[in-house]
Amino acid sequence: MKWSLTHAYENVPMYRARFDEAGVHPDDLETLADLAKFPFTHKADLRDNYPLGMFAVPQDQIIRVHASSGTTGKPTVVGYTKNDIDMWSDMVARSMRASGTRPGDIVHVAYGYGLFTGGLGAHYGAERLGCTVVPVSGGMTERQVTLIEDFKPGTIMVTPSYMLNILEQYQKACIDPRESSLKVGIFGAEPWTNAMRAEVEKAFDMHAVDIYGLSEVLGPGVANECVETKDGLHLWEDHFYPEIIDPETGEVLPDGEMGELVFTTLTKEGLPMIRYRTRDLTRLSPGTARSMRRMEKITGRSDDMIILRGVNVFPTQVEEQVLAVPELGPYFQITLTREGRLDAMAVAVEATPDAASEDARAASAAQLSQKIRDVIGVSAAVTVGEPRTVERSQGKARRVVDQRPKG
Ligand code: DLL
Repeated sequence: MKWSLTHAYENVPMYRARFDEAGVHPDDLETLADLAKFPFTHKADLRDNYPLGMFAVPQDQIIRVHASSGTTGKPTVVGYTKNDIDMWSDMVARSMRASGTRPGDIVHVAYGYGLFTGGLGAHYGAERLGCTVVPVSGGMTERQVTLIEDFKPGTIMVTPSYMLNILEQYQKACIDPRESSLKVGIFGAEPWTNAMRAEVEKAFDMHAVDIYGLSEVLGPGVANECVETKDGLHLWEDHFYPEIIDPETGEVLPDGEMGELVFTTLTKEGLPMIRYRTRDLTRLSPGTARSMRRMEKITGRSDDMIILRGVNVFPTQVEEQVLAVPELGPYFQITLTREGRLDAMAVAVEATPDAASEDARAASAAQLSQKIRDVIGVSAAVTVGEPRTVERSQGKARRVVDQRPKG
């Protein structure tokens, strides 16, 4: 860890200024607890230093950049040295092995290729593990199914919401997904629930495991579930040191407590990250199938939290309730509006083809709003449309449309 602090301090003007301002020096780190003395890094720091200002090596040692699509303004740019790409490939290969993929397996990669880290991150990891990679990228769902049927991959790597589109395409094409070659799905890049896991595992007769990561820290492969236990994601602590903090006060919380996940990279050369605030909410617990610590499946980002008349709601909670009504498809969209001075939530879902009559839809709507009220504790205006009326995700799903007036 001291290497990383020193590397950041000596090579990135922003870190030097921040550490000086906070009156800390890398030499002050004697125990892990000393890390708490160092300042946090935020997404805004990357934007302020756009595009290359946070890099800790000369540009000619950066062999690749990626960027995350900011919803507004400039994207955040990240860069990797040759060693960084090697380490990343190792981490994804390790994640895939933990997921049950083995050398020689065929791997269908449907994460987007390009500036997004998903496609190329998965690709290099699969090659490192010794797999045969089919680099499909996202989109063209019909072709995804054709390629799965023709190449017969054992593993698919894709966002869980896009996997639902692939499932739907199987149904349209009248092919039984349980007969497909897929044995393992490595799903991440967005929050998804155990209810969704059960849905996809049953539909495809496969294992669905969770992969986590973020561009600023690496890309996919910071943490991954083990297929044997599916009990949260093992954090690859030999390269990323996690902390859980109270998002309000910044205080470090003990293992087991829920808070915001913060990472310090231990080996990254191109873009060292010191105490990077992910905004992702989780808790840490001891290792099980592997010895490194686990993080609980992420229920949401603090940015996605909806506060509805004082009750905190995450889109994943809505997902669980939608999946608990068998007459509804697994797609949903939340719209937030303001009525007078109060926020209101509308949930648009759709009926499955065999429960699409008007009466059946009214009954499912009543059932879902009751569940949302009883389990989440808020009221929502639920509309159940005909099948295929909710917009489909092409990669990362956009679950919430915020129509509230700003300010
Ligand atoms: O989404 C990297 C990735 C690609 C991870 C493919 C897994 C698979 P970003 O675009 O920078 O990077 O977005 C990072 O996505 O802070 C989380 O909020 C969310 N996220 C990523 N994986 C998960 C997951 C990639 N397994 C942001 N569960 C993160 C919940 C996830 N949220």
